Amino acid sequence: MSDSSPATPTQDLPWHDAAAQGQLDPDFPVGVDIHGHKLGLFLLDGEVHALEDICPHSYALLSQGFQEDGVIECPLHAARFDIATGKCLVAVGQRDLQRFPVRIADGRVQVQIPIVKAAV
Ligand code: FES
Repeated sequence: MSDSSPATPTQDLPWHDAAAQGQLDPDFPVGVDIHGHKLGLFLLDGEVHALEDICPHSYALLSQGFQEDGVIECPLHAARFDIATGKCLVAVGQRDLQRFPVRIADGRVQVQIPIVKAAV
């Protein structure tokens, strides 16, 4: 059984501003780009979930897919993923999606993602 609790924050990673909480809609995901990381923000049962936004099958943004009953369907070839767990539900999706810790602060959605700094 997959864990549907929110992804666990990591103490060493900074929080990044992703969107206004008011932008989120339970029927329409929001795609964001945070320092080159494409994430999909999903509102499900009042809770915000952040998942990688690029479909593992090929290049499509899942945030442009169809969200219903806790599942996001890829707009290209209909891979389906559980929003709460990131679990891949059909073979074409190839693997589970990475989940990222989320918090709400002052009406803003913040996520924790590992940012790799470019060498100078
Ligand atoms: S790109 Fe998502 S299922 Fe093919």
